[in-house]
Amino acid sequence: MRSITRAGWAVMTVLSTLIVLLVSRYVTFDPDTFFGVQRATYLAHELPLGIHIFGAMVALLLGPWQFSARLRRRSPRSHRRIGRGYLLGCLVGGIGALLLAPLAYGGPVARLGFACLGVAWLVTGGTGLWMIRRGRVEDHRRWMVRSFALTFAAVTLRLMLMAAQAAHLDFRTSYVVIAWLCWVPNLLLACWFTRAHPAGQADRSLVRVKVGSGGEDL
Ligand code: HEM
Repeated sequence: MRSITRAGWAVMTVLSTLIVLLVSRYVTFDPDTFFGVQRATYLAHELPLGIHIFGAMVALLLGPWQFSARLRRRSPRSHRRIGRGYLLGCLVGGIGALLLAPLAYGGPVARLGFACLGVAWLVTGGTGLWMIRRGRVEDHRRWMVRSFALTFAAVTLRLMLMAAQAAHLDFRTSYVVIAWLCWVPNLLLACWFTRAHPAGQADRSLVRVKVGSGGEDL
């Protein structure tokens, strides 16, 4: 079970990093690299797009490392610094997301899906910060797991779009459905996962991995 958790963390980190690399093409602001059906919209709204992508990339790149108990134990200062960077990324990326949501492809249902994701992203990150400021470590951990489950929607969205394309499904319909499907299951799973473990066990089940007989954290 613990090695599955470790493998899960590795998969999550690799996928997150790959998506950051994939979307880093946007930093050139070359319209040829933009999401084709939204090119004209993005050209007319480069500022919110840039704000969103810059903040979101930082959050997706830093987020997985916050689940490393080894890093937290060996360098709590690094955990705090990376955590501040992650939350700033969520704040900036979330504001950009809320500015982009009314412009999203797919019509009102997709737009509402992205807007709800943006609000949930800001709320979970803000609550995680509020909890740690009050010294409620276990609650902080729970809310940060929920926050990253939502950040990870950027990965699930792209994987689902690829699967829909491979299955030759109608792009617009798939996009509307995936605007919700990319994050609601992630959030439910994170809520279940963080509730299923009584306080004190969540840390071990999330990040501690016993390697051989010595025992080692991720
Ligand atoms: C988790 C909260 C997020 C929300 C609410 C959100 C929302 C949005 C919205 C509404 C759009 C416009 C979509 C459209 O034009 O149809 C968008 C586009 C985009 N977002 Fe996000 N986003 C989030 C996270 C992320 C993350 C973590 C990344 C990657 C690091 C990211 C990267 C992008 C990129 C690159 C685009 C341009 C479209 C594309 O080429 O995929 N977003 N986002």
